[in-house]
Amino acid sequence: MVNTKFSFIGFIILFTIFAVSCTNRVKTSDKEEFVEKLLSEMTLEEKVGQMNLIPYEGSNPEELRERIEKGEVGAILKSNGVAQNNAIQKIAVESSRLKIPIMFQEDVIHGYKTISPTPLAESCSWDLDLIRQSASIAAKEAAASGIHLTYAPMVDISIDPRWGRILEAGGEDPYLGSLIAAARVNGFQGTNLADTNTVMACVKHFAGYGASLAGRDYNIINFSERELVETYLPPFKAAIDAGVGSVMCAYTAVNCIPATANKHLLTDVLKNQLGFKGLLMTDWNTIPNLVKIGVAPNDTVAAKMALDAGVEMDMTSEVFIKLLPEMVRKGLVEEKVVDKAVRKVLNAKYDLGLFQDPFAYFSLEREKNTLLCKQNLAETKQIALESMVLLKNIQNTLPLNSNIRKLAVIGPFAKAKKDLMGWWWCKGMPEDVTSVYDGISQTISPKTELLYAKGCDIDSFRIAGREKISEAVSIAQNADAVVVVLGEEYWMSGEGGGKASLHLPSAQEELLAELKKTGKPIITVLITGRPYVLTDVVKNSDAVLQAWMPGTTGGEAVADILFGKFNPCGKLTVTFPYHEGQVPIYYNYRLTSHDFNGKDRYITKHLDIPNEPLFPFGFGLSYNHYEYGDIILSKTTMSSQDSIIASIKITNSGYFEGTEVVQLYLRDNVCSITRPVKELKAFNRVSLTPGESKTVDFKISPDMLSFIGGDLKPTIEPGDFTLFIGESSSSNEQIEFTFLNQ
Ligand code: BGC
Repeated sequence: MVNTKFSFIGFIILFTIFAVSCTNRVKTSDKEEFVEKLLSEMTLEEKVGQMNLIPYEGSNPEELRERIEKGEVGAILKSNGVAQNNAIQKIAVESSRLKIPIMFQEDVIHGYKTISPTPLAESCSWDLDLIRQSASIAAKEAAASGIHLTYAPMVDISIDPRWGRILEAGGEDPYLGSLIAAARVNGFQGTNLADTNTVMACVKHFAGYGASLAGRDYNIINFSERELVETYLPPFKAAIDAGVGSVMCAYTAVNCIPATANKHLLTDVLKNQLGFKGLLMTDWNTIPNLVKIGVAPNDTVAAKMALDAGVEMDMTSEVFIKLLPEMVRKGLVEEKVVDKAVRKVLNAKYDLGLFQDPFAYFSLEREKNTLLCKQNLAETKQIALESMVLLKNIQNTLPLNSNIRKLAVIGPFAKAKKDLMGWWWCKGMPEDVTSVYDGISQTISPKTELLYAKGCDIDSFRIAGREKISEAVSIAQNADAVVVVLGEEYWMSGEGGGKASLHLPSAQEELLAELKKTGKPIITVLITGRPYVLTDVVKNSDAVLQAWMPGTTGGEAVADILFGKFNPCGKLTVTFPYHEGQVPIYYNYRLTSHDFNGKDRYITKHLDIPNEPLFPFGFGLSYNHYEYGDIILSKTTMSSQDSIIASIKITNSGYFEGTEVVQLYLRDNVCSITRPVKELKAFNRVSLTPGESKTVDFKISPDMLSFIGGDLKPTIEPGDFTLFIGESSSSNEQIEFTFLNQ
């Protein structure tokens, strides 16, 4: 009896060990061995299947099942939810020959179900911890809904607000953009990709997509090798150094060679120089696009070009799966090139823990408890608060007194919900969003009477919808103050959202001008994805809050700022033009032979507008005034072996607690190449109570003085530098120091 019991238990133990070792090869071998063994078992078709990334949308369930069973699908995009992805995964791990799990991918750009402010908005917080946190919330929700990889962060630097995708990036500055890129990668990926609260990040679009000419999406780009190295590559480098798991190619061409077929860009630069070791995928259909663009005569040549360039996963075109096996058999492509790519896919799946447990991400209970949970909403509201930028506030129009007698809330975006989520709302639902009107009505005292008028309709981009203006004006006349919520609809920025006019669409500016005539205090709240030309908007407002597309809790955040529950602290990370004709306009321009300012004809300016932007990079007001002391340097010379400490005293001379983003810029006074008039090199967010002073120290190290020399390699030249510390890029508080050649 004892023996029988023992042998039964022994059988169970042995069976368990056997079962675990069958489903879980990870425990018995390290990654390389595991991947090599699996690769050696794969047929050519199965290998190419792993390189195939297909969209869920439009796929016929039976066909999808058959394709997965045959091993034709490596990854699926835009398939969401635990129930659905679990069922699909079951097919892969139970019915395909090698049981290789599917990787589920999605555009989780600024939130999954709880939507954060758009990335451009978030960048205006200059709060890297909070930006990381926002990505981590998105990752938690996406992973809880069965997603393994997100197509974010987009780190394309752009200086053109006509480009709709400017909303998806971290602003115009490569230094700040790099810090944000790393923060977002860390937020998405955490410290362990196999942790089911994280997702793999896919940094995009490699490289230079943000330079699309005239702001027309997908347009050609035309920049020098220097600009590539100085401006467009640094955020990618930062993401790679932060351990990003994958990279997506751009639609555009660098040096007239489309990114997807650009061996120099993908192999020499991305893999060899920047050291990227992860998975490289195309963007949507970019392999057959090579035929459309006219650099390949047919898909076969296009596939070869992409593979030779270094591409490893084909998003949506199915060109690899259709053509590659035959190309290998015919000797057009060596199988070892395919193997190299497949290794990357298997490595990524291994890192995500998918071989360990293909179902680890699929818990219905976790999905239910994570999406839109209270904590995610509260943290998202904090980032919305910090993202908003106060652009004008004369005579302390803001904050409003919460006992105000009659407040009119007017404008086509006052009750908007979907528009607050902006482009890339993923699984966000308008009904979960708090509108500005609702946020205000939850905040006012019971004594306040709230009035409302839509003011005008948004009729695409046409100047239309004037009919409601007079009703809005009479409502405003009846109020003590008027909050006017203007902006653009969610689809007017984002991918494919290029615009020629940067004036607010429809009759909104006219509405504002009429409201201004009432003489009531006018507070304008702007719901936009991109910078607009706000010259007249600012003229016709007493206060202006750039609220961006602030996400699910955006309306609550706006109300907290309007009523002084939160003191605004956001600073612009992109220059706001005074006129469209100035675009591209950016703070770190270079000197020319002709003056920038002055009355003379022969200076570098337009005849009809000033050179200055309406609001410079780094600008943002608060309800306080912060006084800046003198800049003090620990010494005035430095060599390559040491550093200088630059200190400045900041005093909160206002009545509110607040946070000031203290910014440090450097200028290389004389250099062998033309250099920017100033470049952001450091910043510090300083929190101060009323009356409090703090001294902020910045360490100036030699690497901050380096630049890309004439040979396109980093170098430093001795000489004098000017150091600026201030509240924006236009602050002129400055001091000089010398870098000695030692
Ligand atoms: C965009 C990418 C996006 C992809 C998948 C493309 O059109 O350029 O940024 O990740 O679609 O949706």
